[in-house]
Amino acid sequence: MANLKQGFTHFGFKEVSKSQKGQLVRNVFDSVANRYDLMNDLMSLGVHRLWKDALIDWLNPQKEQTLLDVAGGTGDITNRFKKRGGGRAIVCDINQQMLVNGQKKFSDSIPMKDTIWICGDAEKLPIDDKSVDVYTIAFGLRNVTNIQVALEEAQRVLRPGGRFLCLEFSDFSLQVLKPLYEAYSFKVIPQIGNVIANDKDSYKYLVESIRKFPNPTQLISRMREAGLEQCKFRNLSGGIVAIHSAWRI
Ligand SMILES: C[S@@+](CC[C@H](N)C(=O)[O-])C[C@H]1O[C@@H](n2cnc3c(N)ncnc32)[C@H](O)[C@@H]1O
Repeated sequence: MANLKQGFTHFGFKEVSKSQKGQLVRNVFDSVANRYDLMNDLMSLGVHRLWKDALIDWLNPQKEQTLLDVAGGTGDITNRFKKRGGGRAIVCDINQQMLVNGQKKFSDSIPMKDTIWICGDAEKLPIDDKSVDVYTIAFGLRNVTNIQVALEEAQRVLRPGGRFLCLEFSDFSLQVLKPLYEAYSFKVIPQIGNVIANDKDSYKYLVESIRKFPNPTQLISRMREAGLEQCKFRNLSGGIVAIHSAWRI
C-alpha cells in the first residue's frame, strides 16, 4: 500500500480515509446481500465452489475442532466444514443481512447444528483469546480496513496448534489469458452486477479491490509479522485465487 497518505486506505481504486472504509464496505454488502450467492455462481461460473472445497480439503476437518469462519457471509465455508466432519462452528460477519441470508439458506441443514452466527468485525473479534482451533477467512480479508489488525486478531483467537486458512483473489499469472481475464473482470462482472443485483458500482469495487490486495508473498510477510508460523500458499486456477495457510505455534 505504498504512496498512501497517512490515515488513508483503498476502497477499490479510490483513496478513502480509514474511518470511512468500514461503512463503505458495509454498504456494498447491504446492497448485494440478497443476490450474493447467485452472483457468486454467475461471476465465477460456479468455480467458487471448487475453490472453497479446496480450502476444506487442505484443512481436513476433525470433529473435535472448533471453527471460526470470519467474514463468513452466507456460511459456505462453515457448511463445508460441518459436512466434512468438523465440530462446532462460529460464523462471524460484519453484515447482519449476509448472516440472516446464510441462516435461511441452511435452516434445514442438519450439519449446520452446533453453529452460531454472530455479527462482528474481523479487526475486533468478539471471541476469547486462544479459543478456536481453526480460523478461516474466504474472500473477506481484502475488504477489511486494516489487514494487519485482522491477522493479529486471527493469531489472538487461535489456540496454540491452531490453523489459519485464507482464501482470497490473487495474482492471475497466465500471461496469455490476462487480457481476457482483465476484460471479464472490469467489463463483464460489473455488467452482470448491474443486471442481476441492480448494482454495478459494488461489483466494480469488488473487482478493483482484488487488484489492491497484497500478492501472495506480501501476504505471507504480513502473516509472519502477525505472529503466525509455517506460512505457505497455494495458487488455484492459475493464481486467480490463492489459499494461504499458517499455524499458531
Ligand atoms: C465476498 S464476501 C465472502 C463471504 C463468504 N466468506 C464466502 O466466501 O462466500 C465478504 C464478506 O466479508 C464481510 N466483511 C467485510 N468486512 C468485514 C469485517 N471487517 N469484518 C467481518 N466481516 C467483514 C462482508 O460483510 C461479506 O459478507
